[in-house]
Amino acid sequence: MTISEVRTVTTHQRLLRWVEECRGVLQPAAVHWCDGSEAEWERLCASLEASGTFCRLNSALRPNSFLARSDPADVARVEDRTFIASVSPDDAGPTNNWRDPTELKAEMLERFRGAMAGRTMYVIPFSMGPLGSHISQIGVQLTDSAYVVVNMRIMARIGDAVLAELGDDGNFVPCLHSVGRPLGDGAPELPWPCDPENKYIAHFPETREIWSYGSGYGGNALLGKKCFALRIASVMARDEGWLAEHMLIMSVTPPGGPKHYVAGAFPSACGKTNMAMMVPTLPGWKVETVGDDIAWMRFGEDGRLYAINPEHGFFGVAPNTSYRTNPNGVETLWGNCIFTNTAATAGGDVWWEGLTPTAPGGLTDWLGRPYSADSGEPAAHPNARFTAPASQCPSIAPEWEDPAGVPISAIVFGGRRARNAPLVTAARDWRHGVFLGSILNSETTAAAGGAVGRVRFDPFAMRPFCGYNMGDYMAHWLEMGAARDPSRLPRIFWVNWFRRGADGRFLWPGFGDNCRVLRWIVECAEGRGEAVETPLGLIPRPGALDLSGLRIPAGDMDELLAVDRDAWRGEAELIREHFASFGDRLPQELWAELALLEERLEA
Ligand code: OXD
Ligand code: MN
Repeated sequence: MTISEVRTVTTHQRLLRWVEECRGVLQPAAVHWCDGSEAEWERLCASLEASGTFCRLNSALRPNSFLARSDPADVARVEDRTFIASVSPDDAGPTNNWRDPTELKAEMLERFRGAMAGRTMYVIPFSMGPLGSHISQIGVQLTDSAYVVVNMRIMARIGDAVLAELGDDGNFVPCLHSVGRPLGDGAPELPWPCDPENKYIAHFPETREIWSYGSGYGGNALLGKKCFALRIASVMARDEGWLAEHMLIMSVTPPGGPKHYVAGAFPSACGKTNMAMMVPTLPGWKVETVGDDIAWMRFGEDGRLYAINPEHGFFGVAPNTSYRTNPNGVETLWGNCIFTNTAATAGGDVWWEGLTPTAPGGLTDWLGRPYSADSGEPAAHPNARFTAPASQCPSIAPEWEDPAGVPISAIVFGGRRARNAPLVTAARDWRHGVFLGSILNSETTAAAGGAVGRVRFDPFAMRPFCGYNMGDYMAHWLEMGAARDPSRLPRIFWVNWFRRGADGRFLWPGFGDNCRVLRWIVECAEGRGEAVETPLGLIPRPGALDLSGLRIPAGDMDELLAVDRDAWRGEAELIREHFASFGDRLPQELWAELALLEERLEA
């Protein structure tokens, strides 16, 4: 395809030049500009079936849905192959892998050269956020993976409408992706082409570009999500005075109202999707879903913080999603979905651990082998995912695509901590809330490669997703709240659903009962929540949490809310080391907050 052939598609010269330039390097056999239509989806899904990437599920059980099995070496985000290539290493900071941008580009160009031979290069114009919203942003992804195109069609708004919005000279973030497996010279097509030995997920924050090579999986390949909406957008947000966060957005409405919106940051695979779709156990309370993973937030003229969900679908962790843990999630998956690395049933449907109490007979595991429960291995990969249209969620808020966004009353930070972190703590003010976000830590999960269950600091649940120095990021958060009317700012909280007793059992029932904690949070946001001081922050006054209908021993409640001074002296030492790792990029205000915590522990 030549430039003149695509003139009818767009007259955006910079876009046309970039596509041409990339075509010259990657040498695809064809270029396809994605229009985002149903017909295109059908054609691409059929071609994915033909290449063995997709297995169509039984249409009577799950219409218009597919199962993909990835290469076993391409199953999760790869943090050790994720690079922030800022000009100065100090601008990437100690939580990121830094590479010199010129060197990295030269190295990656060698990989990209001819990488699309024999394949089609798809051009995917996509909008993160509703078209026309002042908070939304546009990207264009080039990819040689049809699997990526169909996933992007669920996860973002793609195609002609986005090109129309872009016009002749609109801004876009260029996102270049190749699975790194050229065809030709007799190379056979594989169901899941990739180059597992040579993955690169590279971000160039100064030029706002994304280059991804070698992986076809999730956040490594669907570049609108983690790469753009978090790593590059966090840099844009710093420069432009807004926030790009790893947060769910939900509404919480008490009986008789008013409706409140809550944003929540939790590390990957810590229950954000379940929480966003929660079915509250308190009678008359209502929860609706705006987003389950990412929030972009800007202050409005009224001084309140407004959030949009930049995504259009859910890329959720399948294992342990069930009618018990997340009925709205399960209902969302009725059709029009892509499943990756789940198990398959004999009847042509999908299954994963936790979906039903026991595994049905005749399963095929995520590697395509007959499954035996005696193998001791899971049938679905622990990071198996569903890609599902957000509009199908029974709890989706009617206003979820409101271009103005929704006003946030409370921000919640939460980790997965067996010990020490109380069920809920309210920050005293914005600065203290930023401190609580900065010391968030959590046990690692299967969402990324590497050890599972190790406690690590994950400030604001953004450690793998912040596109610049996290010390500067914390300063940006402080600055966002400074000099603003505190009564209009969201209140900030810390929660932990995962505290265990000495016998190892979870102390808190979680799931729909988390609305009891949300009730107190909303009451605090309204200035009515009854609280008592601890060295860490404010916890509910005894009796202030609505536990009606729950049978939790009083001792367990005490343990759930305890801030143990000895344990927190130990935590404070770890926080000191964590803060020190940022050197002079850590804002003084946070050192001051740590000193206050230490003082309160001794008081
Ligand atoms: C995700 C993640 O996929 O956080 O959302 O890993
Ligand atoms: Mn996430």
